[in-house]
Amino acid sequence: MSIKTQWISPSNIAIVKYWGKLPDQIPMNPSLSLTLSESHTNTSVHWLKRTPDEQKRFQFLFEGKPKPGFEPKILSFLDKLDIYLPWLKDWHLEINSANTFPHSSGIASSASAMSALALCIVSFEQHLFPDSFISDSQFFRRGSWFARLGSGSASRSVFPVASLWGNFLQQHDSSDEFGIGMADEVHVEFKNYCDYIFIVSGGVKSVSSSAGHDLMNRHFFREGRIEQAFHHLKELLPALKTGDLEKFIQICETEAMTLHGLMMSSNPYYLLLQPDSLRIIHAIRNFRNETKIPLAFTIDAGPNIHLLFPQRYQEEIESWIESSLPEYLAEGKLIRDLVGTGPVCLS
Ligand code: PMV
Repeated sequence: MSIKTQWISPSNIAIVKYWGKLPDQIPMNPSLSLTLSESHTNTSVHWLKRTPDEQKRFQFLFEGKPKPGFEPKILSFLDKLDIYLPWLKDWHLEINSANTFPHSSGIASSASAMSALALCIVSFEQHLFPDSFISDSQFFRRGSWFARLGSGSASRSVFPVASLWGNFLQQHDSSDEFGIGMADEVHVEFKNYCDYIFIVSGGVKSVSSSAGHDLMNRHFFREGRIEQAFHHLKELLPALKTGDLEKFIQICETEAMTLHGLMMSSNPYYLLLQPDSLRIIHAIRNFRNETKIPLAFTIDAGPNIHLLFPQRYQEEIESWIESSLPEYLAEGKLIRDLVGTGPVCLS
């Protein structure tokens, strides 16, 4: 009989972006994200003892079907874990994974997928070594550390509300190796903040985040960017604590623009924003100027626009979308997400 471990883990949206990395998935700069709730991955692993002549380490089904395209990333993740978990090689993993959001929606799935798999591995480790008890906070720290080796941003997906990843002197306990939970450091306003995602283009991204991180190694603006991220984080932390929405918006949007500015000014350059991305950005700024409603945007490494706003403005935002951007109410064009409470263990 096989043993099963199963976790649901959410995606996250970075406010201060991780962009650029050193060997071993060590970030060039610290980053901070809000944890989402609706966009998540549900992963189960059946653990079977591996026979000596068995070549394959795992079998992977995505929404019930094989997905060979995902296999190299999983294999390299397991290979990286081998030095920390010498027992891992003795097991064959039957991995089943499903997302709540369409894979082709352009929403980064690596954060939720890698964190869910990492947590399944920590749960199994607990099962194998029940005597080496670890507290809940040690459990999630370990999950975050493993998740980082799969995908940097995944290290921030295992905590409720918000997470900071990367060495930052002003934040006790912060580390380049794992994320830390920031739920106690944010104002109640952010605890149910909304993230509505306009799917401008559902196509596969034209730059992988690994290629993007790599561009930072020889970017003219590298040092300036690192300095800017530290500066933003220093200003963001008190704004998150006090609920200073004006400051939050300013940092959030500058970070999004910087990320794309860096891509547009790298060699080779990447232009991921679509005409509609710009149209939405202008619409958001006009709406904010006219209504004074604190609606902000952020953008990941793709053309989709995330709208960030306090939940108490949901009605106004819904009617603004209906009147100004009604085409986004069509099936699959808008994901209504919000800040969430972190991963859930199913078995
Ligand atoms: O975790 P990765 O390697 O997919 O990189 C994520 C990069 C951004 O999403 C653009 C920024 C971030 O901090 O999440």
